[in-house]
Amino acid sequence: MSGPLSSAGYGPAGADESVRASRSHWDVASSTYLEEHGATLGTDVLVWGPEGLTEDEAHLLGDPADLAGAVVVEVGCGAGQGARWAARRGARAVGVDLSAGMLARSRALDAASGTAVPVLQADAGALPLADGCARVAFSAYGALPFTADAAGVLGEVHRVLEPHGRWTFSVSHPVRWAFPDDPGPQGLVAERSYFDRAPYVERDDDGGLLYAEHHRTLGDWVRLLGRAGFRLVDLVEPEWTRPDQPTWGGWSALRGEHLPGTAVFVCERLGR
Ligand SMILES: C[S@@+](CC[C@H](N)C(=O)[O-])C[C@H]1O[C@@H](n2cnc3c(N)ncnc32)[C@H](O)[C@@H]1O
Repeated sequence: MSGPLSSAGYGPAGADESVRASRSHWDVASSTYLEEHGATLGTDVLVWGPEGLTEDEAHLLGDPADLAGAVVVEVGCGAGQGARWAARRGARAVGVDLSAGMLARSRALDAASGTAVPVLQADAGALPLADGCARVAFSAYGALPFTADAAGVLGEVHRVLEPHGRWTFSVSHPVRWAFPDDPGPQGLVAERSYFDRAPYVERDDDGGLLYAEHHRTLGDWVRLLGRAGFRLVDLVEPEWTRPDQPTWGGWSALRGEHLPGTAVFVCERLGR
């Protein structure tokens, strides 16, 4: 059982403690997260990030017509909106998430939307799926920002994808790590080194980890993907094009005018 927040800052966070902290954090945050962002996320829309770019606009999973009958895995699915989007296009979609609280929200949205997607509770670093079973995997800010072991997650995604399968995922744009997480003018002034890979951590009085977010530079991501056996097809940096898009934490129209907020990596699984 973890205690109240006692410190927040930048420092080391191990792989196992990051997984444990993420599970508890997202269990507790599941309802407030959807109360705050449910209008943007919808029930069966695949939204790549706070800028509001949707898969219907961007086609980062390829031609939606090709999804019919394909196994599609949403990694860190949260309430499963993206998996539901794929299911509505005829895919055999499945969501995987660490948090029982988030998966309970997914089941509630199944009922509300009339489209049910199967979900599995698991760490993305140990996907409970067979080798080569999926044609497409994707993740919108799921798992990868929170894991200390991105190579382990990428290895698992590579394992479950068929050769030449598509892997598309979004994370906070790495450049954001140089700036304070503030939607106002303060968030436009760089105060940290982009090259400092120390994760953002919150700990309780006993030093127990409550929350962690891990930083990789763009170059780190390119190398991680290459080593895991992926070809980078595209790197999409969605722009803040809708004036009415609501502020989401540190993501705002003001910052969106000047800085990228989200990086979407579009990849192909190489090999046999
Ligand atoms: C920011 S939410 C994104 C969820 C969803 N894609 C969305 O856009 O709302 C992050 C999700 O990643 C999940 N997550 C965090 N670490 C994970 C891990 N190691 N394995 C699987 N899921 C994880 C959390 O439980 C949470 O549901």
